[in-house]
Amino acid sequence: MQVNGQSQQMQVDSRVTLLDALREHLNLTGTKKGCDQGQCGACTVLINGQRVLSCLTLAAQADGADVTSIEGLASTDGDLHPVQRCFMENDAFQCGYCTPGQIMSAVACIKEGHAGSDDEIREYMSGNLCRCGAYPHIVDAIKQAAAEMAKESA
Ligand code: FES
Ligand code: FES
Repeated sequence: MQVNGQSQQMQVDSRVTLLDALREHLNLTGTKKGCDQGQCGACTVLINGQRVLSCLTLAAQADGADVTSIEGLASTDGDLHPVQRCFMENDAFQCGYCTPGQIMSAVACIKEGHAGSDDEIREYMSGNLCRCGAYPHIVDAIKQAAAEMAKESA
């Protein structure tokens, strides 16, 4: 599979999840293991641009696919992705454990065109839980990033 733009060959048991493959085989520990049961969103990554819960996805299912984890968002010269920057500017995290999944989901949410209003953002980010309750800041960060990304692509 391609991970963050690099081709990776892995020999893993057919039961290994994409989450464990990223964390334990490729040392990409930015993707967090929260519930490991598909309920918290901490493990969200993108496969071919679409968000998936990597704890519920087998590594084998991503064979040949393009996987993006939080480590792959910033550009190679170190510039943060607009969503990462806006999360920082809006103080949209506290403990940070849910943040990588929130950011990955936010990137997809904006690309899907689901960042039109606060309610829409809340609904399409509802699969990502944040126990410390940074939700209002997260919505603000996504709104700002969506506006910036729309301007950039105009
Ligand atoms: S760790 Fe995958 S949804 Fe919680
Ligand atoms: S930043 Fe702490 S749970 Fe979300």
